[in-house]
Amino acid sequence: MQARFEGRVAAVTGAAGALGRASAVALAAEGARLFLFDRDEEGLEATAALCPGAVTCAGDTTSAADMERAAGKALRELGPVELLAVAAGIVGPSKIAIEVDEADWDRVFAINVKGSWLAARSFIPHMRELGRGSVVLFSSTSGLQGSPVLSAYSASKGAVTLLAKSLALNHATENIRVNCVCPGTIDSPMNDRAIAASGDAAAQAARAAFQKSRHPMNRFGTPQEVAGAVLYLLSDAAGFTTGVALPVDGGRLA
Ligand SMILES: NC(=O)c1ccc[n+]([C@@H]2O[C@H](COP(=O)([O-])OP(=O)(O)OC[C@H]3O[C@@H](n4cnc5c(N)ncnc54)[C@H](O)[C@@H]3O)[C@@H](O)[C@H]2O)c1
Repeated sequence: MQARFEGRVAAVTGAAGALGRASAVALAAEGARLFLFDRDEEGLEATAALCPGAVTCAGDTTSAADMERAAGKALRELGPVELLAVAAGIVGPSKIAIEVDEADWDRVFAINVKGSWLAARSFIPHMRELGRGSVVLFSSTSGLQGSPVLSAYSASKGAVTLLAKSLALNHATENIRVNCVCPGTIDSPMNDRAIAASGDAAAQAARAAFQKSRHPMNRFGTPQEVAGAVLYLLSDAAGFTTGVALPVDGGRLA
């Protein structure tokens, strides 16, 4: 295995989740030293067990204090973070926009948008001091097109897509690149939960078949396939690539 990230420090938020974990494991396999952040302590330790030498930090990505504490801990224990993958996120309610509760709307935006911004705000200053860095935010195909049902999620991921582009412009001359991945439906607990919420067994089967059919490859992606795109964007091979929203979607947006 080519070690593209040998000795480099990489932070992953949402590291207890399917896509954060797959990204962390892939980074560790290619030599990165991992800093793992999530609010799910048990899941965090499970990911750490797969990433030798990883440092963990439990906290809430919507809290400025928690994100500052995380960046400080990473700096003290591993050195400046050069690579950042911001995978913490939630789907929120499956409702048309005018039926979403105010509290649900705020929660989705707090975690997906404010959380991504706080992660960038906490770690990018350390990249500036280091003189290089690469950030990948986690948007979605729903961050590039509207969703008939995941209205709050889609709006929040649209904001994440443009946050990545704004950050890319902010730091383009500082040797810090910022991109985002836009996964389609991925075989993951997040997708399992969405399918389970669609009703009885017949409704669930119909929902799964419909979701698959929206991807020309007629299947769900895997967390490892998303991690492959994340690692490419984090790597030096993407050295002239910044401000990109990369679909990882089996052709869904083709
Ligand atoms: N799974 C998919 O099909 C899919 C598709 C497109 C985009 N995405 C995006 O990819 C990212 C990762 O998705 P996943 O499938 O791994 O989801 P997941 O639910 O498995 O993982 C998300 C992680 O974020 C953490 N998290 C949530 N809120 C937090 C908070 N306030 N503070 C700290 N941690 C918090 C959770 O504890 C969890 O470990 C998300 O941003 C998601 O929107 C996923």
